Amino acid sequence: MPLLPRFASTRALLVALAVSLPSAVGGAQPTTRPPAPPPVATPLWAGRFDVAPDSALLAWGASFRFDRRLFEDDVTGSLAWAEALARAGVLSAAEAAQIRGGLEGILAEGRRNPAFLAGADEDVHSFVERQLIARIGEAGRRLHTGRSRNDQVAVDLRLYVRRRVPAVQQALLQVVDALLAQADSAGDAVMPSYTHVRRAQPVLVAHYWLAHAQALRRDVERLDAVRREADAMPLGSGAIAGSNYAVEPAFLAARLGFSRVVANSIDATSDRDYVSGFLHAAALAMVHLSRLAEDVVLFTGEEFGYFVLSDAVATGSSLMPQKKNPDPMELVRGKTGRTIGQLTALLATLQGLPSGYSKDLQEDKEGLFDAEDTLIGSAVAAATVVRTLALDLGRSAQGASGFLLATDVADYLVGRGVPFRSAHEVVGGMVLTLMREGRSFEGLSPAEWRGFHPQFGDDVMRVVSAQASVRAKKTPQSTAPEAVRAQRGELGAWRAAWARVLGGSAPR
Ligand code: ARG
Repeated sequence: MPLLPRFASTRALLVALAVSLPSAVGGAQPTTRPPAPPPVATPLWAGRFDVAPDSALLAWGASFRFDRRLFEDDVTGSLAWAEALARAGVLSAAEAAQIRGGLEGILAEGRRNPAFLAGADEDVHSFVERQLIARIGEAGRRLHTGRSRNDQVAVDLRLYVRRRVPAVQQALLQVVDALLAQADSAGDAVMPSYTHVRRAQPVLVAHYWLAHAQALRRDVERLDAVRREADAMPLGSGAIAGSNYAVEPAFLAARLGFSRVVANSIDATSDRDYVSGFLHAAALAMVHLSRLAEDVVLFTGEEFGYFVLSDAVATGSSLMPQKKNPDPMELVRGKTGRTIGQLTALLATLQGLPSGYSKDLQEDKEGLFDAEDTLIGSAVAAATVVRTLALDLGRSAQGASGFLLATDVADYLVGRGVPFRSAHEVVGGMVLTLMREGRSFEGLSPAEWRGFHPQFGDDVMRVVSAQASVRAKKTPQSTAPEAVRAQRGELGAWRAAWARVLGGSAPR
C-alpha cells in the first residue's frame, strides 16, 4: 500500500485537515515568535498532483496571513472581472448576477466581521474563490476563467496602493499643519540656525519650521507620483501571455477607475516598480521625519532649550527623577531604519529575477504594509509632538545673539566699500580678540569699533541685532520677514489645494 494516498483521498484528507484560524485578525503580527503556520486548505491547483503537498511547506509559503489586507481590493477586482467576462460572453447574465451577489455578500461579511478573514487558504485570492463557491456553487467555479493569480495580485496591489496613498498623504499633512501652526504662532521671533551643529546666523523661528514643511511637501507630491504610476490596469495579462477571452481591458480600467491599461502582459505580471516607488517615498518621508525628530530632541533639551516639550508627550525615567525624555521623537528617528530596510529588501528581491512572475514577488507585501503603518504612525506622533511644543522666547532670542552676527558686521564693511575678503579677515580678527577677552560685539564702544577698522561708524550697532540681521536678507527664499510671509502664504495655498483633493478642511 502506498504511503501517500491517491488524489481523491488526498483531497478528502486536506479538506479534513483544513481548520479555521483563531479570530485575531488585523492586529499587528507578533515580531518575535511567529505562530506556527496553520495547515493549508486544498490549493486551487491541486488537480495536477498525485500526492498531497507537504503541509508544512505549503503553510510556510502561504500568504493569507498578511495578504488578507488586500481583501477589499480582491473583491473589487473580481466584481469587475465577472462583469468583463459577461460582456465577453463567457458568463451568462444570470451567472454574472449570481457571482456579483456572492461577492457582495462576502465583502459585507468581511467588513462586518474581521474574524471572517481567516482560514486555511493559501492566499486571499484562494479565500475569496473558496467562499464564493461555497455560497453560490457552480457559477463560482467560472469566475477564474481567463485570469491568473498573477494578474489578479497585480490589480489588487495597484488598487491597494492607489487607495492607501491618500491616507499616507493625510498623515504627512497633519505634520505640515502642525509646522504651519508653529510658524504662525512664532510671529517675528528669532532663533539661531546651525551648520555643522555650530551657530550660523539668526533666522525667524517661522522660517525654521517652514523648512521642515517644505521637505514634507515634496513627500506628499512624491507619493502622488507613486499613485499615478500605480494607476494602470493589469487584468487581461493572465499568467504572463494575456487572456484567451475577449475581455475589454478599457472597460475594466474604467470600471475600476484606472486611467490607463498596462502595455505588456509579461512586464505587467511581474512589475512591482510602483511598490518600490512607494517604499522610496516612504523611506524618504521617514528620513525627513527623523531629521525633524532629531531637531526636536536637541532643541527641547537642556543644552539648547529653544522649545519646551509638552508633559503629555514626554516620558520619565525609572531611576532619575528629573528626566523628561522625548521618547516619541526618538522612536520616529529609530523607525526610519526599518523603512529604509523595507526599500532595500524589495530592491534586493527584484534584482536578478527572471522575467515573468516568480513566487519571490510575494515578498513585496509585508514590507509595503509595514512601511505604510510605520510612516502613518510616525507622522501622527510627530504631528502631536510638534503641535504641542512651546517656544521659549528668551532662550531662542539669546541663542540668536552674539558672534553669529559676524557675517552682518562684515557686510556692514562691504557697504562702506571694503572688499568682502578683507572684511571677512577684519571681523575674523575681531572675533578672535573678543573671544580671548570674554566679550562680544554688543559691548564695544564706537572708539573700539574704529580701532578694528576705520570704516566702522557710529551706526554700526544698528546691524548688530538678530532682528536687523533677518531684515537685511533680500532674497525670496531667505529668512527676511516679508519673504517668510510670502513663503507661508504659498505653502498655505498648496495645503488648501490638497485639502480639496483629499477632502477635509485645511486650517487657514
Ligand atoms: N500570493 C501570491 C503573491 O502574492 C499570489 C500570486 C500567486 N501566483 C502564483 N503563480 N503562484 O504573489
